[in-house]
Amino acid sequence: MGKNQVRRPTSDSNRRRMRDKPSTQKDQTADSSFQDFRYYDRRLIAVFVVLFVVPPSISLLIYRFKFSPQSGPILLPYVRQRGLVKADVNCEEILTEHSNVSENTSRRHFMNPVLAYITPWNSGGYDMAKRFTSKFTHISPVWYDLKSHGTKLVLEGRHNADIGWISELRMRGDVQVLPRLVLEALPQHVLREKKQRDKAVDLILKECKDMGYDGIVLESWSRWAAHGVLHDATMRKVALRFVKQLGEALHAVKSDRNSNMHLQLVYVIGPPHTEKLQEHDFGPHDLQTLSESVDGFSLMTYDFSSAYNPGPNAPLKWIRSTLHLLLSAAGRNMAHTIFVGINFYGYDFLLAEGGGAQAITGRDYLSLLEQHNPPMRWDKRNAEHYFSYTDSQRRQHAVFYPTLMSISERLEEARSWGAGISIWEIGQGLDYFFDLL
Ligand SMILES: *[C@@H]1O[C@H](CO)[C@@H](O)[C@H](O)[C@H]1NC(C)=O
Ligand SMILES: *[C@@H]1O[C@H](CO)[C@@H](O)[C@H](O)[C@H]1NC(C)=O
Repeated sequence: MGKNQVRRPTSDSNRRRMRDKPSTQKDQTADSSFQDFRYYDRRLIAVFVVLFVVPPSISLLIYRFKFSPQSGPILLPYVRQRGLVKADVNCEEILTEHSNVSENTSRRHFMNPVLAYITPWNSGGYDMAKRFTSKFTHISPVWYDLKSHGTKLVLEGRHNADIGWISELRMRGDVQVLPRLVLEALPQHVLREKKQRDKAVDLILKECKDMGYDGIVLESWSRWAAHGVLHDATMRKVALRFVKQLGEALHAVKSDRNSNMHLQLVYVIGPPHTEKLQEHDFGPHDLQTLSESVDGFSLMTYDFSSAYNPGPNAPLKWIRSTLHLLLSAAGRNMAHTIFVGINFYGYDFLLAEGGGAQAITGRDYLSLLEQHNPPMRWDKRNAEHYFSYTDSQRRQHAVFYPTLMSISERLEEARSWGAGISIWEIGQGLDYFFDLL
């Protein structure tokens, strides 16, 4: 998932168009509703005040009374109390503060679902998961591939599984462990025959039961797009039916740990490539088709820019328009099933001829800050920080990596929709990012 395995067939010019949507229409509607407002009866306003303003004010008073004096500042994330969540950060502050986190690592500040990915190749994520367990509702270690060996389907990845670590997590908090599984097997192999589809479902189910997982996170859409499955109307239907079949099979199994729970399926989806949906895009209709059999959708809202088109990793407006597009049919009542993707990695773009983009982790980022001590810039339009530097061969670079401010704005966006978030991935971030969750 995300940058390591997926190259999306993107048309950058289309994306730009989506980014530069004019806002005049919106302003006009705002004007007209403002005029309508003047015709409202004053009594209506009084009713509004009694219904919606008075009760919260009273609750607030009671709350303050009960919990004062420490309640106010203490409820804010520690990084906010220290005034670190802001546009005008500087390099020194990041370098001195990034590892200073609140003593209370279990207090949550973002109350919607939080899915955290962990990869074996950035193994610091395993410790982060233990350290901040209570802040996550779902943890997804990136462990499995379902492959075809000749005509045989094989589930690979058991050697990655760390049962001891899972039991430690479960002692620390109430978190679901759903390993990520990529459907690598050729679609013509898995999807065409019922026998093979059943076999694939059985393999996955058996692994969940044997290992005591709470379910899985499945990534297959990007593979199917690459193999042309989604361009063929019949195959596209079969593909969606396969996801439903897997979801239903998982739901039929009760969790070992909690008999009120069944095994869960989270499905990975990419953002639509253009404003106008194409057949290989996962769209609002697909969302509804799967709504009964899939428990959550991990939406990969990152990797917007590329080596050929350097820039922000996940422009806020693009995240918003993606959510609009996806939820346009179902309305907001499916928003709670979406895990809006937030990147904890960044990119170092080479701006010289030919270009280039190097994915960077928190550690790489800190070492660049130490070496170059660059001024930080806030790109307000896209809600991301970046800086530039010149390397030893005098070539210009631009570096985009998340900050407290950029993450905080994305959390706010997800919150405003009633959606959760998914983090790719927690072995790449800075410690104090977790204070925001
Ligand atoms: C963390 O920040 C607080 C407030 O600025 C400071 O008092 C404390 O010494 C810092 N702790 C560490 C370990 O840097
Ligand atoms: C940490 O925060 C949680 C949730 O607000 C609270 O229940 C717990 O008592 C706190 N722990 C400490 C050590 O203050």
